[in-house]
This record gives sequence, structure tokens and C-alpha cells, in this order.
Amino acid sequence: MDLQEEVVKVGFIDRPLPEGVDLVKAIQLLKEQKNAVILAHYYVADEIQAIADFVGDSYALAQYSQKVNASMIVFCGVHFMAETAKILNPNAKVILPDLHAGCSLADAAPEAAFRDFKALHPDAVVVSYINCTAAVKSMSDYICTSSNAVDVVKAIPLDKEIIFAPDANLGRYVEKVTGRKMHIWEGACMVHVNISDAKLAQLMELRPEAILIAHPECPSSILDKAAFIGSTKALIDHVSKSDHHCFIVATEAGILFKMREAAPGKILIPAPSFENNTCACAECPYMKMNTLEKLYNALQYELPMVHIDPHVQEGALKALQNMLSI
Ligand code: 13P
Ligand code: SF4
Repeated sequence: MDLQEEVVKVGFIDRPLPEGVDLVKAIQLLKEQKNAVILAHYYVADEIQAIADFVGDSYALAQYSQKVNASMIVFCGVHFMAETAKILNPNAKVILPDLHAGCSLADAAPEAAFRDFKALHPDAVVVSYINCTAAVKSMSDYICTSSNAVDVVKAIPLDKEIIFAPDANLGRYVEKVTGRKMHIWEGACMVHVNISDAKLAQLMELRPEAILIAHPECPSSILDKAAFIGSTKALIDHVSKSDHHCFIVATEAGILFKMREAAPGKILIPAPSFENNTCACAECPYMKMNTLEKLYNALQYELPMVHIDPHVQEGALKALQNMLSI
């Protein structure tokens, strides 16, 4: 099977590693040889965040991808993030270590169904959360992330109808903060909706000294109890600046790696999820598809590469630029 066939079939390059290789050193060496940068989201495994040139939330990663001067961007995150990097920096080779690293939110808004939804509200301004496909971005007026969704919606004139997609929890949170009623697409993040309300209530009773902080992809039943709501970056900043000592963190558990670095000595308790009775914290299976082995092979073979359909590039770029300019 040639390399491209392998990528199509399994999503990543599954070649044996050189015997006895020190993966961290080998990745660093390959990166320098190829003028590549490694970007990572806060939800990927600790060892990948530790080796990355830049770790950030979706907004910071988009900004960094646009500005970085490198021949190759290896994006340790999920597919929509790597697509965003390619749209913003079309001359760079953008590599995603596992092409099957998707997102339940992006999957929730297929292109054709989204076009039909838009047709129901032809006068509406379309605001799409960055967790969507390039095709959906190209049908949007603005992209937003969890760090700027409120500001993006506030920037739209009051007499305009708004479509908000694909995260219904974020959409309802924005409605509550801004007082704007929107046409909301009913998508959800499989990780944040899996945080158990009942287990969380028990934990809060057990640890009354702990402050609940939450990502806005959580359902309103959790957000209503939270003392602070924000993007991954905002949650990290809040914990490091706050006078409080103990936090329950309602988002994907990978965030704890950088949060511990930013706030050494503070007590950080991951919010419990429904199914996972062993480690009992919320983990994104897609983010966790990024491994050091796949990262090494991705750099070595410069695959899997992310491509953008030329038909959607221009529209998606415009919607992203409209966000970045706010
Ligand atoms: P942010 O990093 O923008 O908060 O997004 C969280 C997320 O779910 C990424 O998939
Ligand atoms: Fe998508 Fe949720 Fe995973 Fe983020 S945590 S990539 S929103 S499934």
C-alpha cells in the first residue's frame, strides 16, 4: 500500500519507527530540518503540548497560523483546526497527524443541511463557531470562537436576524449574555454534554471550597452553576489570576497540563463525566488521536496533508477575516 492509500484507509502513516529512537529528540530534529512548526490545542496529550512550538485556544491558534512564517505547520488538534490554518495560510503545507481526528460539532452541520437551514432565514447574518467544516465557514458571514462569540454577535446591528451554528449550548449562552434571539443550529460537543450534572452536584457538595469554572460548550444546567465561563485560554488565565485556591474545571481534561503550569500549587479537579467510571474525567477521543508516534511519521513523510476545496477557500477566508478584524 502506498503512503497516500494508507492515509485514506487508516487516516495516518503507520510505518515502524527507527529502532531505539528518542521520539522527542527525533521530532525536534525533523522539525528544524523541514522548517516546520508544531501547533497544539490545550486538549491534546501532555507530551504533545510539551513539545509544541505554540499551544493555544482556537482563536490564538488561528491567529498564530495566519502569521507564522514556516514551510510546514503540523497541527496537533482536530481536522477543522488544521483546515482553518490552511485557509489562513494557504502557502504553508498543513499536516494533521491523524486525518480522522474529527469533531462532533463539525459533524453536526453537514453542508447540504446547513444550506437548507440558511434558506429558511434568507435575511439572517450567519455566525458560525469555528468548530465547523470549511464548507460551512464559506457559507457564513462571521466565524467566532468561544473567546469572542459574544463580541461577534454584539457587533451585528440590532435589526438583523442571526443564524448561530453549530453549537447550541454556546449559542444559548450568547443569547443569554447579549439578549439577542438567534436561529440556533442544534449541534453539541460530545465531550461537554457528557459531563454529568448529578456527579458534578455530588462533587460540589463534597468540596464546598471549590469554585466551578466551565467552558461555554457545556449545557446550561452546568453553566448556570459556574462562577466563571470562558474559552480554554480564558479558563487558564482565570485560575492563575484568581485569589481562590481550589477549582472544579468543567471542560476537556487536557487543559489541566497548562493550567497546572500557569497556576502551580492550586487544586484543580476535573469535572466528572457520565460514562467514564475509571478516570471519570471528560476526554475528547479525537484530540487524543494525536500521538508522538503519529507526529513523528507526519513530519517524516509530510502526510496526511490538509487540502481546501478551491470553491470554499475564498468565502471561508472572508468569514475568518471578518472575525479576526473585530
Ligand atoms: P477553545 O480552545 O476555543 O476554547 O475551544 C474548545 C474546543 O472545544 C476546541 O475543540
Ligand atoms: Fe469537537 Fe468537543 Fe472534541 Fe472540541 S472537545 S474537538 S468541540 S468533540
